[in-house]
Amino acid sequence: MKKNLGSAGELFPQSVFIVASYAEDGTPNAMNVAWGGECTRNEICINIGDHQTTDNIIAKGAFTVAPADAAHVIEADYFGMATGRSANKAEKSGLTFRKSEFVDAPVIEEFPLTMECRVKEVQDWEGEKRFVGEIVNTCVDESVLDEEGNVDFDKMRPIIYDSTRRIYRVVGEVVGGAWDAGRELM
Ligand SMILES: Cc1cc2nc3c(=O)[nH]c(=O)nc-3n(C[C@H](O)[C@H](O)[C@H](O)COP(=O)(O)O)c2cc1C
Repeated sequence: MKKNLGSAGELFPQSVFIVASYAEDGTPNAMNVAWGGECTRNEICINIGDHQTTDNIIAKGAFTVAPADAAHVIEADYFGMATGRSANKAEKSGLTFRKSEFVDAPVIEEFPLTMECRVKEVQDWEGEKRFVGEIVNTCVDESVLDEEGNVDFDKMRPIIYDSTRRIYRVVGEVVGGAWDAGRELM
């Protein structure tokens, strides 16, 4: 038996993207974004309402995206609770915001992986904005790379957002090879 849940999506996993930006006066800020994803190999799409981050991205034409890791769940959640309109979240978080070498947006040093994006497209959607960012550079801590230089998610321990229970989960075990497990039915 299936039950109809209506039009709300239950897509899982949802991201825990920490989107960092600068205000017009240069104040760094970060917010938590679940409604976002990689739309092509070098583009990221984020859907955001009327936030400090929205103003910042429009002002600077740039943002960075760091998938949050388990070591920083407190800071990641804080970035989604407080607003840069009334709090200096960068200062309060105690994390290190440094200017990206490639775009006018901050990189948060403590997150192991960051994609630095230039705004490519802005769409209006029911009072929200959908930004498409072109990834101009990705920087990564060597500590989360494997011997071949690939990002090792077992080392990084990225977290995902489970919207059905409003909790964060860590990315889990390997259950099969991609373009491989299906061979059994080919
Ligand atoms: C788990 C989680 C996911 C969130 N995802 C989004 C999102 O995808 N889009 C959005 O507009 N706000 C989202 N928010 C809310 C913003 O992060 C929040 O309103 C934040 O205060 C905005 O910060 P700012 O005003 O400093 O930019 C999310 C919050 C949490 C805790």
